Amino acid sequence: MILRKQFLQHVAQTSPSPMLVEVERAEGSCFYTPEGKRYYDLVAGVSVSNVGHCNPVVVEAVQQQAARYMHVMVYGELVEAPQVEYAKRIAELLPDPLESVYFLNSGAEAVEGALKLAKRYTGRTELISFRRAYHGSTHGAMSMMGTPEGEEWKAAFRPLLPDVQSLEFNDFEQLSRITTRTAAVLVEPLQGEAGVRQPAKGFLKALRKRCDEVGALLIFDEIQTGFGRTGEIFACVKYGVTPDVICLAKALGGGMPLGAFVSSSEIMSSLSHSPVLGHITTFGGHPVCCAAGLAALNYIVEKDLHHKAEAKGAMFECLLADHPQVREIRRGGLLLAVELGVPEKLYRLMELFKEAGVMSDWFLYCDTAFRISPPLTISEMEIEECCEIIRECLDRLD
Ligand SMILES: Cc1ncc(COP(=O)(O)O)c(C=O)c1O
Repeated sequence: MILRKQFLQHVAQTSPSPMLVEVERAEGSCFYTPEGKRYYDLVAGVSVSNVGHCNPVVVEAVQQQAARYMHVMVYGELVEAPQVEYAKRIAELLPDPLESVYFLNSGAEAVEGALKLAKRYTGRTELISFRRAYHGSTHGAMSMMGTPEGEEWKAAFRPLLPDVQSLEFNDFEQLSRITTRTAAVLVEPLQGEAGVRQPAKGFLKALRKRCDEVGALLIFDEIQTGFGRTGEIFACVKYGVTPDVICLAKALGGGMPLGAFVSSSEIMSSLSHSPVLGHITTFGGHPVCCAAGLAALNYIVEKDLHHKAEAKGAMFECLLADHPQVREIRRGGLLLAVELGVPEKLYRLMELFKEAGVMSDWFLYCDTAFRISPPLTISEMEIEECCEIIRECLDRLD
């Protein structure tokens, strides 16, 4: 009780109704309160904890690296093995020519770096994104929240970046608005906060083609879709489209804070001259975070979690789709939006979930659907039990 009061008083608040569930410990697919109540975690920190909470291989990597060395020097000067080894592993798993990794601390920072890189490389200023896109909350990343939906968050903070326009996701005709003025097009290959929206067949390929025609860089934001969530380590592999730059964060750090943008060595080299130090960070690529991320990524690959994500997502879909309260399920691998169609029902469901020990939430642009994005390590038995609890809660809705 005292801790909750202090939380509200001293930890800066941005929500009028935080969940206020106190966490004592977390393990696998669940976390626990000091009273010993278990919560199935269907958010996983918004697709962060892909290898499960407190995965022993990640804990060990953190402990070992923390004991060896933590922060030593600002980014890009000293040779730090965890950083180098992780960058090499990411490059191995990404399609060519994506091989040069710039590590940062968060998703928004990765987007900032990618936008700056595109402007610097092309010498152009126009930036394009899509409606209902979410790329982060710093000024630059926020500028890329699509209009008009993004205005709810952007309006109070203008002026933001100039020369930004937003297109309709999946509208092939609007691709002609990408021109020789365009520095970059930023897109989530599968839109997350829009409420899990798949790209239409051929849309990402058409986008790639248009960017090539006009010399604009194509930037994929795989901050939410990366590291196995959609059925491949990276969604760009799943959709067969290679961007010029890819932004990574969330699961990149295996539970530790880490972001990155990755490009070809040729494009990335434009940050090292005219001016030098084209992007600067103190903590980016922190050795403990890189060690944790590498351990987590190796775990995903070794256990084939990315390929199993598809079947696990399908299992959730199959066990919930026929409930009379469920209007639709939108899904990419193990990222699901369960559509109820009415916000009031969803708010009530969240209360019922809290009582029953299920942690879910809605999406920034979609408050009529709840999120299912558990750790990729969730077992079939856990999925069954979880869906039983979810169905009991859905039964209690009017
Ligand atoms: C697709 C996408 N891009 C960027 C971000 C921003 O990441 P961060 O909160 O680490 O800045 C998010 C966070 O939810 C996201 O989902």
